[in-house]
Amino acid sequence: MIELRGVSRLLGSGERVLTVLDGVDLTIPGGQFACVVGPSGSGKSTLLGLIAGIDRPSRGEIRVAGQDFGRMSEDELAAFRGRWIGIVFQSFHLISTMTALENVQVPLELLGDLDARARASELLERVGLAARAGHYPVQLSGGEQQRVAIARAFVNQPSLLLADEPTGNLDTKSGEQVLSLLRQLRRDLGTTLLVVTHERSIARLAERVITLVDGRVAADGPAEAG
Ligand SMILES: Nc1ncnc2c1ncn2[C@@H]1O[C@H](COP(=O)(O)OP(=O)(O)OP(=O)(O)O)[C@@H](O)[C@H]1O
Ligand SMILES: [Mg+2]
Repeated sequence: MIELRGVSRLLGSGERVLTVLDGVDLTIPGGQFACVVGPSGSGKSTLLGLIAGIDRPSRGEIRVAGQDFGRMSEDELAAFRGRWIGIVFQSFHLISTMTALENVQVPLELLGDLDARARASELLERVGLAARAGHYPVQLSGGEQQRVAIARAFVNQPSLLLADEPTGNLDTKSGEQVLSLLRQLRRDLGTTLLVVTHERSIARLAERVITLVDGRVAADGPAEAG
């Protein structure tokens, strides 16, 4: 599903080059639930941006679902992302002038889906927010906003769901709810799930934990029990 070979990401130029990712090799099979952990600044968000095709590596190769990102134009990457990848951010990123339902419809409308409204309603119902369809983001709690963002990310039935600290701005209870939704939808749809997190309680639930330190994979294996 995801294949990284010798991926490095350098920032800056001349004498002020910062190596954010340094020769990362990674293979994540389809359907896996993997977490990325590591200290602040270790390159976790950068890694996710590369796998999403939002950013490009300075060196190395990235393939997602057999597609070689290095051979794709920005437009091709954007189209691929719109169709196959769902993304959830720490700070929800909902459109404030749109209702919950409209926010969830956006990705489908971009694909020209005529059933957008019905599909979006279905997803909102799955995240327990059918009654809030007509509400705007400011009228929703943080946990509710994140559930809308999850409905939006899954509405295309992506084969890959990337989440960067999806519970980072939430209290423990809302965080647990959000995570349990991610896991449920992943199970039902067979989605590959890659979650960046600081929280051990989340990493423990993953099948695999990838630890980044200074832009390198410092550890990679099954989540420790307990
Ligand atoms: N646009 C940028 N310009 C300059 N430096 C950047 C930029 N984006 C990231 N960095 C640097 O790259 C390094 C890795 O950043 P990244 O955001 O990937 O870390 P992270 O592991 O996600 O950290 P956190 O846990 O704090 O979110 C950091 O040192 C950061 O300062
Ligand atoms: Mg980050």
